[in-house]
Amino acid sequence: MNEVNEILSQLTTEEKEKLRAKKVLVTGGGGFLGSWIGETLLALDTKVYCLDNFSTGVRRNIESLKNNKNFRLIEGDVENFETDESFDFVFHFASRPAPDDYVLHPVETLKANSIGTLKMLELSKKSNATFVYASSSEVYGDAEVIPTPEDYWGKVNPIGVRSCYDEGKRFSEALCMAYFRECNLDVRIVRIFNTFGPRLRADGTYGRAISRFLTQALGHQPITIYGDGQQTRSFTYVTDTVTGILKVATSGLAKGEVFNIGNTEETKIIDLATLIIKLTESKSKIIFLPPAKDDPRRRRPDITKAMLTLKWAPRVSIEEGIKRTIEWLKNQKI
Ligand SMILES: NC(=O)c1ccc[n+]([C@@H]2O[C@H](COP(=O)([O-])OP(=O)(O)OC[C@H]3O[C@@H](n4cnc5c(N)ncnc54)[C@H](O)[C@@H]3O)[C@@H](O)[C@H]2O)c1
Repeated sequence: MNEVNEILSQLTTEEKEKLRAKKVLVTGGGGFLGSWIGETLLALDTKVYCLDNFSTGVRRNIESLKNNKNFRLIEGDVENFETDESFDFVFHFASRPAPDDYVLHPVETLKANSIGTLKMLELSKKSNATFVYASSSEVYGDAEVIPTPEDYWGKVNPIGVRSCYDEGKRFSEALCMAYFRECNLDVRIVRIFNTFGPRLRADGTYGRAISRFLTQALGHQPITIYGDGQQTRSFTYVTDTVTGILKVATSGLAKGEVFNIGNTEETKIIDLATLIIKLTESKSKIIFLPPAKDDPRRRRPDITKAMLTLKWAPRVSIEEGIKRTIEWLKNQKI
């Protein structure tokens, strides 16, 4: 089964009908998550407007969508976007997502998650659209409560190197809730935990552990771990994350709500590196680099709310997801 069919098979008929034959704007629609959202919506005969500046997105992600009569690409920055169109849903996913990259572009990262969010909320208000915001587990910072539920407030350094992202996401969440409370706008916030799978940038040039390790392992290059590798993350396969996002977008119980969407399997980075070496049959050795600044020690979501409210839970194990990603990577020409 391909990814889109797998996502569709996990949505109820009612959820699919709410998304069918609609008009949707996906900011960051040329990126990893945005392109899977767009492709799934196109399969439901929905018109998809993809807004992207390709700062981190890859054109190849949407190559197969371009010929679809319901797909429209708009190249530009979300913070400058103007339109007379109106939409049924706005998915605001435009942002540089990876620490190695966003620390080099802090102003741009903050603009996409402040001015960009404001613009998309205004557009949603004008359109009477449902607004879905791609927030992040990073709003929890170096969480002291593990597994972390949605009502944990977070432990974030507001002036640290990662604050352009963490605080951008936190500001956007506050802005979403302000539009919900003051304008009764239908906003929904998804706190996404590390997601991987086909279309995650395969060149490994910016720092997401799974794509970097896979690229290094397949090339038999040293696997680079920042710190001692004892830090943990929860890795979610892309079909599970996109299914969760679309359930948040359509649930009758999600207006003005925030949901953790992530896998509860907590993995040490050193164990991830070892697993990837095994699955790729690589000759790579592991090398340890100085720890990244303000790197959270542990990350694991409490997904009780999503399980009870959305009837959602991840289905793909990390090992299965990595095997599928390896297959995809082997077919890429990079
Ligand atoms: N993938 C994850 O593990 C993860 C986890 C938590 C949150 N998120 C959030 O989900 C969203 C999508 O992430 P992704 O993994 O698909 O990353 P991605 O880099 O593949 O996609 C982001 C897209 O946004 C575009 N973009 C960036 N800034 C823009 C701007 N100012 N104007 C227009 N387009 C812009 C990029 O070119 C890219 O195509 C992001 O907001 C990210 O912060 C992702």
